[in-house]
Amino acid sequence: MRIAVARETDGNEPRVAATPETVKKFKALGAEVVVARGAGNASGLLDADYEAAGATISDAPVKDADLVLKVRRPAPAELADYKRGALVVAIMDPYGNDAALKAMADAGVTAVAMELMPRITRAQSMDVLSSQANLAGYRAVVDAAAEYGRALPMMMTAAGTVPAAKVFIMGVGVAGLQAIATARRMGAVVTATDVRPATKEQVESLGAKFLAVEDEEFKNAQTAGGYAKEMSKEYQAKQAALTAEHIKKQDIVITTALIPGRPAPRLVTAAMVASMRPGSVIVDLAVERGGNVEGAVAGQVVVVGGVKIVGHLNVPGRLAASASSLYAKNLLTFVETLIDKKEKTLAVNWDDELVKATVLTRDGAVVHPNFQPKSAA
Ligand code: NAI
Repeated sequence: MRIAVARETDGNEPRVAATPETVKKFKALGAEVVVARGAGNASGLLDADYEAAGATISDAPVKDADLVLKVRRPAPAELADYKRGALVVAIMDPYGNDAALKAMADAGVTAVAMELMPRITRAQSMDVLSSQANLAGYRAVVDAAAEYGRALPMMMTAAGTVPAAKVFIMGVGVAGLQAIATARRMGAVVTATDVRPATKEQVESLGAKFLAVEDEEFKNAQTAGGYAKEMSKEYQAKQAALTAEHIKKQDIVITTALIPGRPAPRLVTAAMVASMRPGSVIVDLAVERGGNVEGAVAGQVVVVGGVKIVGHLNVPGRLAASASSLYAKNLLTFVETLIDKKEKTLAVNWDDELVKATVLTRDGAVVHPNFQPKSAA
């Protein structure tokens, strides 16, 4: 059983899919581990560290690998090096990327999308969305604080009082909760909103204030899987009116709202941005999925009427060492379920609910029911 840790080819991806610690565990499970030269550099993990853990370093790691660990899905140009039938485990970003899925199917690889892992107790330690979103939520506050020209906590000094910053978090999933906790730790006055009623109590338990239109639709706005639904136009208008009044008075707004498989909802309009005081900061964590904030530009910090709109790409990657360490553990706990520990071989149980939920392509075809090519659907 040969496991490869591939190099990330996207210039904006500093994370790596394994750490020396997880390499050691894979070795103990009987695997031979090959790591791409320099793969961990941007996460502070050196080739020598992987070697000390028992890996070999290679310039062509995926050749002959039975299992390839990656952060991002392999680009079509990379696939030529993969063995047919190899398992590739990564964050596959499958929605709206039919051509990329077809390329993986055509290459004969079995693509496994970690972000489709069911949110059940058994799979909690494999939940890459949570491990990465948690770091992104923390980093969003750190980035906002760095861009903000004032202090976050109230400071009473001999030279006068600095008021506490007012921070508003929009979208209270994993990232939003960590953003609330971080902003609170930094001494800000924090408010938050979400469309899922379950979040109200969570917000309040972190010492922040909850703000939302709490009508009938709101009371039912959560799927069985715990995710947000797309809200009606009417609800969105009511909620926008409420938040517009609130945003005017905020110093920092952090948006994290996502709906799986849909473009991010637009929560902050240009008029709301214009209503904020110059020097205020908005961080849009949804910018890569279409953005919650009008005027946010992916990969840039733009200034609109004196308000900074921060649209960093790959925010977990801005904490690459922490992000890689958690991501690598997520992969390890999942891959352990694919290994026959006695025989020390890969032994995928295709009927396992974790496997069924995450396998996108197999035997030359896109097999996941949610991503069938349009003509076949
Ligand atoms: P997400 O990243 O899909 O979305 C972020 C947040 O945006 C969500 O809270 C969502 O309700 C909110 N949102 C969507 N549309 C909005 C709008 N128009 N206005 C305001 N907010 C909006 O969500 P994430 O972070 O993946 O968490 C989703 C749920 O899954 C949470 O309840 C979380 O606690 C739960 N969860 C369960 C796990 C488990 O059981 N193993 C593990 C991790 C999370």
